[in-house]
Formats: sequence, C-alpha cells, structure tokens
Amino acid sequence: MSSHFTARAAALLALTLTLLLAVSEASRMAKLHRIAIHRSPNFERSQKAVAAERDLVQRKYSQNLSQKANGYPVEPLSNFDNYQYYGNISIGTPPQYFMVQFDTGSSNLWIPSVNCTSAGCYDHQTYNQTASSTYQANGTYFSITYGTGSVSGYLAVDSVSVGGLTVANQKFGQVYTEVGTNFVDALFDGILGMGFPALAADGVVPLFQNMISQSLVANSVFSFYLRDNGSTVNYGGELILGGSDPSLYSGGLTYVPVSQPAYWEFITNSIKIGSTIISKGDAAIADTGTSLIIAPQAEFTAIAAIFSADSSGVFYCTSTKSMPDLVITIQGVDFRISASYYVEQSGSACQLLIQSINQEFWILGDVFLGLFYTEFDVGNQRLGFAPVNAADSVKQMGLWKVLALVMAWGLWRLGN
Ligand SMILES: *[C@@H]1O[C@H](CO)[C@@H](O)[C@H](O)[C@H]1NC(C)=O
Ligand SMILES: *[C@@H]1O[C@H](CO)[C@@H](O)[C@H](O)[C@H]1NC(C)=O
Ligand SMILES: *[C@@H]1O[C@H](CO)[C@@H](O)[C@H](O)[C@H]1NC(C)=O
Ligand SMILES: *[C@@H]1O[C@H](CO)[C@@H](O)[C@H](O)[C@H]1NC(C)=O
Ligand SMILES: *[C@@H]1O[C@H](CO)[C@@H](O)[C@H](O)[C@H]1NC(C)=O
Ligand SMILES: *[C@@H]1O[C@H](CO)[C@@H](O)[C@H](O)[C@H]1NC(C)=O
Repeated sequence: MSSHFTARAAALLALTLTLLLAVSEASRMAKLHRIAIHRSPNFERSQKAVAAERDLVQRKYSQNLSQKANGYPVEPLSNFDNYQYYGNISIGTPPQYFMVQFDTGSSNLWIPSVNCTSAGCYDHQTYNQTASSTYQANGTYFSITYGTGSVSGYLAVDSVSVGGLTVANQKFGQVYTEVGTNFVDALFDGILGMGFPALAADGVVPLFQNMISQSLVANSVFSFYLRDNGSTVNYGGELILGGSDPSLYSGGLTYVPVSQPAYWEFITNSIKIGSTIISKGDAAIADTGTSLIIAPQAEFTAIAAIFSADSSGVFYCTSTKSMPDLVITIQGVDFRISASYYVEQSGSACQLLIQSINQEFWILGDVFLGLFYTEFDVGNQRLGFAPVNAADSVKQMGLWKVLALVMAWGLWRLGN
C-alpha cells in the first residue's frame, strides 16, 4: 500500500520537475533572438584563396588603434568569398532590408546609400533616407580606408532591427562613394561591427551597446554558432542576441577575460602542435571576419618547420590522419583542432590554414570558431568557449525530457 503511494508520489514529483525544467528552459530560450547566418556559396580552400584571405586580414589589422580613435578604420573589402558570414537586418520605417557581414573585428555599421553612384553600390540593396519616417539627419562626413581603396559618405541616424530587436536612434554610415574597392562582388551590402566602442570611428556607439542601453536584451551577451565549420551556405549557423543556447554546445563554457576591450582579445595559456609547445601566454583575438587562424610570425615559422612547409604554409603530404592536433589551452582547458580542420589536402599538396601576418597576436577565425561555440559577453568583458554539438546531437537534446516522462509513466504504473 505505502510502496504504491511512494511510487505515485515519485511519479508526480518526476513529472512536475520535468515540466518545471521544460518551462524554465522555454522561457530562457524565448529571451534569445536568433539570426540565421549565411555563407558564400563560392567559399573555397585553394592556395590562392588562402593567400588572398591572409592579405586581407593583414590589411584589416595593420591599423594603428591609437590613431584610429579620431580617424577612420581600415576595413578590407576584397576576397569576399572566404570570410563572409552575413545575415538579414533592416533599417528605417517601413523596414528596408540589408544583408550585412557580422564582424567581431570592427565596430561600425555601414551600408550603401541610394545616392551612391559607384559601381559597387549598383548590385546591392541601398538605403533611401527619404523613404524612412524614422530617419534623422547627422551629416558628419566619414571615410573608411581599404587596402586598395576607400568608401565614404555621411553619418545618419535611424532605427535598426536585428533578430526582431529594434534599436532606436542608431548612428551608422551611409556610403555615397566607393573608390578602388572590390565591393561589386560582395554578397553582402554592408558591415555590422560587433567589436568594442574603442574600435569605432567617430565615437559612434556600436549597435549591440545600444541594444544594452535600450534594454532590448535580457543579458548583455551575444554568441556565434557556426555550423559544420561554416560550410553550409543557406544556414551557416546562428548569431544569438541576449545569451547562449546550451543545446548548441556540449559541457559548460570556459570563460576567459577580455584583456583589452577593443578587439575581442584574450590571453591563451599555451598553443601546441601535438606535444610541441609553440607559444605560452600569447594574446589571441576571436574574429568572425576571417575563416583562417593567423599566428604571429615566429610562431608560424615554428609550425611551418614541423611540417616542412614553405612560407605560404604549403607542404607535401599523404594524409592528414597521422598529423598531430593543434591544441589551444585557455584557462587550463584544451581546445583541440584536428589536422583535418587546420590543414586542407588536395592530392599530395597540403595547405596549412594557419597563416601569418606581421602582428604579435593570434587571430582565431572559423577554423577555431566553427568548432567552438563562442559567447561574447560584453557586460562582463569576457569570452566563453565550448565544443559545438554535431547536428545529430542537437536533435537528441529533447532526449532527457522523453526519458524523464517515460520514467514518470513507469513509476505511475508501478503505483497502480
Ligand atoms: C600609433 O599612433 C600613435 C599616435 O599617433 C603613435 O604615437 C604610435 O607610435 C603609433 N604606433 C605605431 C605602431 O605606429
Ligand atoms: C530579409 O528579410 C525580409 C523579411 O523577412 C525578407 O522579405 C527579405 O527577402 C530578406 N532578404 C534576404 C536577402 O533574404
Ligand atoms: C540624394 O539624391 C536626391 C536626388 O536623387 C536628392 O534629392 C537628395 O537630396 C540626395 N540626398 C542627399 C543626402 O544628398
Ligand atoms: C526614395 O524614397 C522616396 C520616398 O518614398 C521616393 O520618392 C524616391 O523615388 C526613392 N528614391 C529612389 C532612388 O528609389
Ligand atoms: C553627428 O555625429 C557625430 C559623431 O558621433 C557627432 O560628433 C555630431 O555632433 C553629430 N552631428 C549632429 C548634427 O547630430
Ligand atoms: C568542414 O568543411 C569542409 C568544407 O569546407 C567540409 O568538406 C568538411 O566535411 C567539414 N567537416 C565537418 C566535420 O563538417
């Protein structure tokens, strides 16, 4: 008699707990705002594409941060195919839609103006200020220098919506002219910078900082989930505003403080190839604007020597299977990248997807970010990393709920 009662009570308790957990999970998830990320269908890992991308990253990082405080950022715009992760946003009332690159390595938002007459503006969506009832004039001239040219125009103020969140009075750049850039080929219309305010030109408050001050996000956090190492064209992953989705990664996030809030920069414990230590205590930057890993010159040379690779990272190989892992240790936790991710094999030629430009820190693009879910915690100035879940295990995330329900049903039956 009493054992029946106990089993029934346990069944009710299990059911209640399951429901409570499901409800709290649902309310937490409801606070997240998701934006699908697209990737260029022309993405390729040829030697030429890797070299072009390395040059592009070099231009992006060859700027002088202290000069940039009153000047203008360098935003490279060529070789679009390998570094573009982009998604849909809208500006103005009624909404005008734009595809923008989400770039954690810069901090300004800019899009082409309807008044732009340069070739690069023609095959892109352009912003028509006259058609927006929420547009406000600013008129300050801005100019962004590229490796090969520049874009320039005037600052404007309007509402900007991303993932269902509308920021009022966002300042952004309307591009009027474009000189010597390769923007014509870009699949996105503009760039949405997600770095810290210190990187922003003209002291413009970045979009996510306005989302925080306008209380649009429950937490001052955004996160990137780049699926299948970013190879999926129409659904390359998600940008999540307001938090992280634990179903997309396994285990807990490993948090590391941002060492200098401009780029998303932090200090690694060590970086190894197999058991060979390449660096200890190097700084690294999480940059969604590149697909590669970039190492400082001396570290790159040490890695190239292990593989007998040339200065472009090209070497003779038979299979990536016998090659050691790249191990990045952050806050005592090892983040392992197998050679099949950081080396691209084409016949007997292998190409390191680790490259070098002349800088003192590492830049972790999607060779790293595609494997590790990344939380960008603006409020606490820290980054969180965890291994992404494979698409299959994401489907299994409802499994614990099913198991709990089956258990409750079994206990209930036992009580009868
Ligand atoms: C950056 O600019 C500042 C101010 O103009 C200057 O003092 C500094 O030497 C520059 N640094 C580099 C590395 O060029
Ligand atoms: C952006 O979203 C809007 C509204 O959902 C849609 O009409 C538009 O086609 C989308 N743009 C692109 C390029 O997908
Ligand atoms: C844009 O061009 C239109 C004419 O096509 C003009 O009326 C308008 O003043 C221009 N806007 C700006 C901000 O220059
Ligand atoms: C911009 O919007 C205004 C108002 O809706 C419209 O009259 C004008 O034709 C638009 N300009 C362009 C170039 O589409
Ligand atoms: C336009 O924006 C700049 C940069 O934030 C600011 O310094 C300037 O005062 C603004 N001008 C107007 C007319 O609002
Ligand atoms: C990673 O991306 C490449 C294409 O760039 C693809 O061939 C490979 O299968 C992907 N790996 C995994 C595990 O998804």
